[in-house]
Amino acid sequence: MQNEGMQTTPAAFDISAKTHNPNAGLRGNYADMAADFTVRQHVGDYTSEEQARWLRLVARQLALLPTRACREFIDAVAKLDMQRGIPDFATVNVALNAATNWQLVAVPGLVPDDVFFTHLANRRFPVTVWLRSEAEFDYIVEPDIFHDFFGHVPMLFTPVYADHLQAYGHGALKAKRLGGLDWLARLYWYTIEFGLIRESGEIRAYGAGVLSSPKELIHALESAAPRRRPFDVMTIMRTPFLIDDVQSSYFILESFEQLHHDTAPDFTPYYTALRNA
Ligand code: PHE
Ligand code: FE
Repeated sequence: MQNEGMQTTPAAFDISAKTHNPNAGLRGNYADMAADFTVRQHVGDYTSEEQARWLRLVARQLALLPTRACREFIDAVAKLDMQRGIPDFATVNVALNAATNWQLVAVPGLVPDDVFFTHLANRRFPVTVWLRSEAEFDYIVEPDIFHDFFGHVPMLFTPVYADHLQAYGHGALKAKRLGGLDWLARLYWYTIEFGLIRESGEIRAYGAGVLSSPKELIHALESAAPRRRPFDVMTIMRTPFLIDDVQSSYFILESFEQLHHDTAPDFTPYYTALRNA
């Protein structure tokens, strides 16, 4: 599903068979989880090699942010202290709860669609507990704690984004009932994972898949190759995405209010139109 350090949208495939069978090849320890797929983060159990690898991943990515990440992301990163080691979710949750009333929950790895969306709908963001291996420093297939935490958590501190992501969770559960999830998954992909935004006349990144991958961040903002198009809900829902390479299209928001506003209408007629196209 992906290039460096970003995750496929949880809606893009059905992993429920795998998550219910620990021998089916899904990475992560699903043995001790609760019914909602959450586990405890044993923050003392990360090895010194993992802690050192985390610091190198963070340092490499922080160096790229100043001219490329949106202001909201940069402001939140400054508060998160990621340069001190793998974050303790319980500590982060105190600050996150105060900022936007969201919570991080630890998960063993990928979780089924409906579980993921139910967490979002309740203002809980699932974060994978394990860190990629050294061999995966530049490229990882599944989301790990670096992608999930570094990429996703900073934006949860922005109120309008946080409200939007909760609404997305509800909207995805609804889309699933209406048979519209393949289309709505594209919206997640082109916003939450690969979104760009114009700020003070400059194009900056806010998507987690872009911001957790050095290669994709440079490609998304500086390469002549990809199309950079204005954000438009229906255009996005008609645009398939690439799960194993850098994207060939990115969509640019003018503000996070635009994202929240343009996704507020009832999508039922949108799905009907897409089905009839
Ligand atoms: N408003 C959409 C609906 O009614 C749901 C949605 C919310 C989708 C936020 C995306 C983001 O179906
Ligand atoms: Fe992700």
